[in-house]
Amino acid sequence: MITEEQVLAWLELSATVMAENKEFLTDLDAAIGDADHGINMNRGFSKVKDKLPELAGKDIGTILKTTGMTLMSSVGGASGPLYGTVFMKAGQALAGKTELGSDDLCTLFQSGRDGIVQRGKAVAGDKTMFDVWAPVVEVADANRGLEPLAFLEMCVATAEEARDATAPMQARKGRASYLGERSIGHIDPGAASSTLLLAALRDTIKGG
Ligand SMILES: Nc1ncnc2c1ncn2[C@@H]1O[C@H](COP(=O)(O)OP(=O)(O)OP(=O)(O)O)[C@@H](O)[C@H]1O
Ligand SMILES: [Mg+2]
Repeated sequence: MITEEQVLAWLELSATVMAENKEFLTDLDAAIGDADHGINMNRGFSKVKDKLPELAGKDIGTILKTTGMTLMSSVGGASGPLYGTVFMKAGQALAGKTELGSDDLCTLFQSGRDGIVQRGKAVAGDKTMFDVWAPVVEVADANRGLEPLAFLEMCVATAEEARDATAPMQARKGRASYLGERSIGHIDPGAASSTLLLAALRDTIKGG
């Protein structure tokens, strides 16, 4: 089972990962957007990191909800409300939980994906973060019986493939859609940051 402390460790690692990948994500966004995705994610998760000390001892639902509200209020543009909704919905769905099994992670991913759809109205193939979340939910749903680390390894492998599969897509949402066919050939920045978040969760659990 994944403990409340491990969820806090995941969010802390996410802040480190977003700082380390600030340029990578911004470069992806420079190709098809406005070159701010890395800056946005780094700003948001550094605010989340600031909140972690006061979240110690709270249930996982509260931790995720507070993370969502923090991202919502500190990140502008499209990705703040999108990731804000992801974590707020996940927090609602996991209210009161003090540990998570694979089944609960599946709930987390499903509510995250549903939040993205509710907010951004993306469908498969629009070249957005939804194109990572949707296949991850499918794989998660089919592998609920696995223990969390093996389960997360499957989810990360799926996310990495799905992230790369956004490159040949033509963007139909956000600023990238203004580029039309010129958006083809680049990985979607939100698909990349979503994969980083999932990999950070896997790495946290792997680390014990
Ligand atoms: N309608 C949407 N539904 C789902 N995801 C979206 C949507 N619009 C944008 N995104 C995601 O947000 C990412 C861009 O986030 P960023 O932090 O750069 O915000 P932004 O510059 O305001 O976004 P954009 O230029 O796409 O409107 C995209 O790579 C994509 O994954
Ligand atoms: Mg941008």
